[in-house]
Amino acid sequence: MERRTRIAVLVSGGGTNLQALIDAERSGIIKDGEIVLVVSNRRSAYALERAKNAGIEAVFVSKKEAGGQEGFEARLNSLFEERSVDLIVLAGFLAILGPEFTARWDHRIINIHPSLIPSFCGEGFYGLKVHEAALAKGVKVTGATVHFVNEVPDGGEIILQKAVEVMEGDTPEILQRRVMEQAEWKLLPAAVQQVSEKLRKERAERGE
Ligand code: GAR
Repeated sequence: MERRTRIAVLVSGGGTNLQALIDAERSGIIKDGEIVLVVSNRRSAYALERAKNAGIEAVFVSKKEAGGQEGFEARLNSLFEERSVDLIVLAGFLAILGPEFTARWDHRIINIHPSLIPSFCGEGFYGLKVHEAALAKGVKVTGATVHFVNEVPDGGEIILQKAVEVMEGDTPEILQRRVMEQAEWKLLPAAVQQVSEKLRKERAERGE
């Protein structure tokens, strides 16, 4: 088969999920995809450093400087088209993408969310807030979900999901760390490999 699936990763923060993807590509867990670009919507995101350290092109795109949502998405589209990106991975990307953008990349954007969707998801549920809500509700099991991205925040088709136990005395920070270690850092690379392989086979069938 010809070339691997070309992946752009969108980030906003520390980038531990990006690191898990970089490590998985190196170790061969992601064998049908390659990360060709990392884009952050925050200049100070440590994820940009992780990308540079791994020799991956890292770009900051400011929504403000791009003239708002439309300009931001246009900039993303041209970055991705110039680099022949096939798959977009949201790894701790804490901004919403609009319906035109998600339609343009239908079934080619995936996201990791730190709960068992449809619990504790949708607009306003991101990062530690998700774990605070889970603890406030008193759920005994939470987890992580990887899903395709459509026009409904956290509403697209689920690809993989993994449950994680909530323990007595958990704080949001402790629970967040357990969900990352036991679920996110394995689940996201597995889903990225699965979708990369599928897209690669589809390209081969089309003779690309
Ligand atoms: C992760 O827990 C990810 O699941 C979550 O933000 C964190 C980013 O950490 N994403 C969301 O809440 C999306 N709604 P990271 O920058 O270390 O990967």
